[in-house]
Amino acid sequence: MLVLGIESSCDETGIALYDSEKGLLAHALYSQIELHAEYGGVVPELASRDHIRKTLPLIDEVLNKAKLRRTDIDAVAYTAGPGLVGALLVGCAIGRSFAWALDIPALAINHMEGHLLSPLLEENPPSFPFVSLLVSGGHTLLVDVQGVGEYTLLGESIDDAVGEAFDKTAKMLGLDYPGGPILAALAEKGIPDKYLFPRPMTNRPGLDFSFSGLKTFAMNTWKASDQTEQDKADICLAFQTAAVETLAIKCKRALKETGHKTLVVAGGVSANKALRTRLDSISQLNTYYPRPEFCSDNGAMIAFAGAMRQAAMVKQDTSTFSARPRWPLDELSVP
Ligand code: KG4
Ligand code: ZN
Repeated sequence: MLVLGIESSCDETGIALYDSEKGLLAHALYSQIELHAEYGGVVPELASRDHIRKTLPLIDEVLNKAKLRRTDIDAVAYTAGPGLVGALLVGCAIGRSFAWALDIPALAINHMEGHLLSPLLEENPPSFPFVSLLVSGGHTLLVDVQGVGEYTLLGESIDDAVGEAFDKTAKMLGLDYPGGPILAALAEKGIPDKYLFPRPMTNRPGLDFSFSGLKTFAMNTWKASDQTEQDKADICLAFQTAAVETLAIKCKRALKETGHKTLVVAGGVSANKALRTRLDSISQLNTYYPRPEFCSDNGAMIAFAGAMRQAAMVKQDTSTFSARPRWPLDELSVP
């Protein structure tokens, strides 16, 4: 089965063709980073307009790359939420119209399920069950994954997502947009243990997170410092170390509680090298990640999630045409 994937939930237009037998055939990504950079964050209306401009040309581009025609497509998978409503509606409208015109199924995919399944696109994929740590700009989730569509939420952030905390801290320190990877790069120049940041919510039971306090701690530390470039790098490192350590503590706890031996990490922040090094150091544990280019938003994970859901025969509601700006993972239907 050949699935066309369309991702347009935020500031990236991602298109891909995934074949359930041959694997990923082609993918293309257009990032709107330059468009939003001057505003220091994503401007929703500009994002929607750009998705309108880019989606159809990128669909043609992936079809050309794979030397296929529109009529070869067997199903269209599009991100229906969570995300920016206007941006989502572009992918929904184009995906649904495409499927209607070709008389093939249209699959409404949850963006976080796309991230969750993305490490399974790699060679030697993890097998179920596993604990999934999803770390993106909008979410920090720990999920018990029994199979495709079988997700139990173990914990989540009660305030800022970890990627959001990276971005806000970076902005406060005067770093460019998007802040997360820039803060991580600057942290490499930091002196270890110059500052010690708290590990929020680790000294009480449970698997929820809170990252907004770390951002405030970084701001207060910056204000009290001499504000040199070295201070900035030291604060970046202390912030990153605290965020990574907090995630690692909760991952260990989730693995202990579930009894699973496999950890699967995905979402934009899973590209963070310090996080990977720390999680890899948890002994007797198999840890899986997506390849770096599929950590952040992309069409491949949506096409793949569509193929997995079709294969698992997960029922799709074909009558609705809606985008869901909020769509919790545990509200997905089970096969
Ligand atoms: O998954 P994603 O591309 O979009 C959402 O679904 O939100 O995640 C984007 C987030 C941003 O907050 C970005 O700053 C963060 O991932 N990010 C990083 C790194 N690369 C991307 N955060 C820390 N270190 C990185 N290397
Ligand atoms: Zn994402």
